[in-house]
Amino acid sequence: MGKYVREDKEKLSFKVNRQAFVNPEILETEREAIFSKCWLYIGHESELPNKGDFHRRKVGGRNLIFTRSQDDVIRAFYNSCPHRGALVTRENCGNSKVFRCFYHAWSFNNQGELVGMPDKAGFPNDHNCDGAKNLATVKRLESYRGFMFVNFDDNAVSLEEYLGNAKEYLDLVADQAFAAEDPTQGMEVLTDPQQYSVRANWKLLGENSVDLYHGVPTHKTYFDIVATRGGTMEKDSLIGEGKDLGGGHAVMEYYSAWPRPIGKWIEGYGEEAKEVIEGYNERLEAKFGKERAHRIAKKNRNIWIFPNLIINDIMAITIRTFYPIEPGYIEVTGYALAPKAENENFREVRNDSFLEFLGPSGFATPDDNEALELCQEGFLNAKEAGWNDISKGMNREVPQATDEAQMRAFWRRWNELMLAEEAKREGKEAEGVNA
Ligand code: FES
Ligand code: FE
Repeated sequence: MGKYVREDKEKLSFKVNRQAFVNPEILETEREAIFSKCWLYIGHESELPNKGDFHRRKVGGRNLIFTRSQDDVIRAFYNSCPHRGALVTRENCGNSKVFRCFYHAWSFNNQGELVGMPDKAGFPNDHNCDGAKNLATVKRLESYRGFMFVNFDDNAVSLEEYLGNAKEYLDLVADQAFAAEDPTQGMEVLTDPQQYSVRANWKLLGENSVDLYHGVPTHKTYFDIVATRGGTMEKDSLIGEGKDLGGGHAVMEYYSAWPRPIGKWIEGYGEEAKEVIEGYNERLEAKFGKERAHRIAKKNRNIWIFPNLIINDIMAITIRTFYPIEPGYIEVTGYALAPKAENENFREVRNDSFLEFLGPSGFATPDDNEALELCQEGFLNAKEAGWNDISKGMNREVPQATDEAQMRAFWRRWNELMLAEEAKREGKEAEGVNA
């Protein structure tokens, strides 16, 4: 597997073999080495405000139920009936004390306990005395600042340890709640998620999300519009840093030409928006001091939490996860995140901004998807034209946001985990031969 990522610090060269994007065996190894070992985003606490609220979620290729049980504890269950396997809920979301399987009508309360089944007499009295007929629970479900993750490896390190340096950046997003008039209400995920698919490898979307280098050429139409509204590409645009946060996590933090939802606004949204923004900035300064308030309000952040969570804190905030169905095909889910107590008119402007750039039919997402699909098409030549170059910025002391240090951070961790999995398999094979 080491043959797929080649780093040469002396020659300032970082290459990734294109097989990593097309080879089904690599995807199978990723399912084990990455999607069965890493913390994977399931949802935001705000999506379950009331007891009984639930969402059906697909995480790491598993079907899950994400719910707030009657005892007020948030849980994740495998959405799979202990009887003969059917999904126990087909609804995407709702509020229910009971999940009743469609097939033979076994019922489970929202703490996962089997509470009813037709023709009980056909089963022994101690049928479920060991709890094996209850819904199976995902044992590891942890939260950081409202962002909730599951891990299918019961022995995984804690979420906080896993997030490491990335926590600082999640804080900068979560702290935007303090810009609103009532910060105690926190942040909330808005309405239903956006769901779409792309004919591209999952790692391409990760790379693209922390790739500022593509911004101007790929999204030219958007920047033309920003310019007509008073935004500018000349001044401080796209200046900032790209960072390897360790553990495969990465971020780029930079100034932009577009308006920040709580930092600055552009002409066209009127005086009221300006006043609201001033209020936001004052409250942030009162809470965090000038420097941190400036960072929260005026800088953009594209955060890549290894392996498949992206938080783009740009002209609006989006949370995105994605999962590979095939090496060249992914399903993407996107959510908008905002301070809960946000001014109503301002929320409208934010939503416009979110849909206009980040929505699947906005200015950016179709452009990005086109670029990703073009790469995937280009990878048909992987045998003859085999390597991606990810070396931009290796010649600089401090990588810039428009460099590719963020992607190298991901690939180093990817390579480590894949190599470890491969070594484990080889060890097992060797044992098999010796036995
Ligand atoms: Fe669910 Fe039979 S499969 S009750
Ligand atoms: Fe883009």
